[in-house]
Amino acid sequence: MVNSEYVLRPATADDHDRFVSLFATSMMFESTPTDLDRELFEPERALLAVDGDKLVGTAKAMSRDLSVPGAVVPAAHVTAVGVRATHRRRGILSSLMSRQLREVPEALAVLWASEPGIYGRFGYAPAAWGVSYEVDLRKVGPHPVHRGADRIEELPVEDAPAQLAPMLRELQTKRPGVSGRSEQAWRKRLQDEPESRGGKTARLILVHRDQAGSLDGYALWRGKLSWGSGGPANEVTVEELVALHPTAYHALWHHLLTLDLAAKLEFGHAALDEPLQQFVSNPVALNRRLTESLWVRLTDVRRALTQRRYASPVDVVVEVSDDLIDDNNGRFHLTGDTEHATCERTESTPDLSLSVGELSATYLGGRSLAEFAATGRVSEHTPGALPVTTAAFQWPAVPASIEIF
Ligand SMILES: CC(C)(COP(=O)(O)OP(=O)(O)OC[C@H]1O[C@@H](n2cnc3c(N)ncnc32)[C@H](O)[C@@H]1OP(=O)(O)O)[C@@H](O)C(=O)NCCC(=O)NCCS
Repeated sequence: MVNSEYVLRPATADDHDRFVSLFATSMMFESTPTDLDRELFEPERALLAVDGDKLVGTAKAMSRDLSVPGAVVPAAHVTAVGVRATHRRRGILSSLMSRQLREVPEALAVLWASEPGIYGRFGYAPAAWGVSYEVDLRKVGPHPVHRGADRIEELPVEDAPAQLAPMLRELQTKRPGVSGRSEQAWRKRLQDEPESRGGKTARLILVHRDQAGSLDGYALWRGKLSWGSGGPANEVTVEELVALHPTAYHALWHHLLTLDLAAKLEFGHAALDEPLQQFVSNPVALNRRLTESLWVRLTDVRRALTQRRYASPVDVVVEVSDDLIDDNNGRFHLTGDTEHATCERTESTPDLSLSVGELSATYLGGRSLAEFAATGRVSEHTPGALPVTTAAFQWPAVPASIEIF
């Protein structure tokens, strides 16, 4: 089979519903597009593969920002990647990815992968790990909270976008890997169609108010009735939890870990450095599991390296190879620290060489260049350049993505 069977073209607004339908079918879920979905669709950022009058492949990018070490920058949020089952393994995904990556205006693209084997060949790399919990609430033993004048409240959904948005923005200044949300994106996040609840309750929105009455944390969660032979065994699903101060963090988690009738709590988006184990007497009962989280792909190496900050001073020449984006090939002189960064093309002798995949993996500061040097994927030409650059690229707050998009 050859590529000439299909053509690629950007979508138009009229393509929205069949675009969504093909992607949903490729992932095997039911989808009924809403007006909000149509509002959020950026047709010029959506690519279609078409065979005659049949849609056979989709990929789109959403314009959102992302926190990276020391900054919040625009990042193409890639999603809705799907190929019709009758047209797979003929190179349609490869054509979609190559074109999309060459055309994105942002210096980096990010995505969540359905399977780990798909995106590495296009220069994407996992740049953040996540941790999921399946907490045994009968055994975990949450530490008591010492209540002052702070309190936990429920927030009506109509107030949520305006009240929660400032907290998410503040989280972005503290932790890399967090995607920003426009007002529309907040409304999408909080959409709660009964048919998508899977037997769980409507979403509840908790907020924490500090002693002065300001909001400094929130949690989105649902419950599910379950009755075992031993009595009540309800299940709690925490969808998102943002806490800007330790008191808010402890109070929100204490509330969720001590709900009456509940036996199990699931949370899929903990950070690798999540401190919850410090607030319980039996951390083993959190049942933690490592998961893959955000994948990153630098589409403009020079600009991307200038946009982030570095944990310690760095002055290094890196030689980069990229099979897909020609402009990323070559040597770059990078200088930076916690306040500034510059990155320019150079002909100087390289101190380190690596491919765009390793640079993408370490971009958010959660993975180490030394880890890749250990398998020969980063080469050190100037003795000492590797530890200094490794330390500069890492970041004190581990990256974590708090939502699958
Ligand atoms: C994943 C998917 C988009 C791939 O589309 P496709 O058009 O069949 O992919 P291509 O033919 O361009 O494949 C390119 C290469 O990737 C490999 N590949 C494709 N899908 C893969 C997968 N799921 N796991 C591992 N490798 C995969 C192919 O074998 C091929 O390898 P090669 O270059 O060494 O021959 C398609 O299988 C699909 O729609 N899957 C279900 C939905 C899904 O998972 N979407 C991704 C959401 S993040």
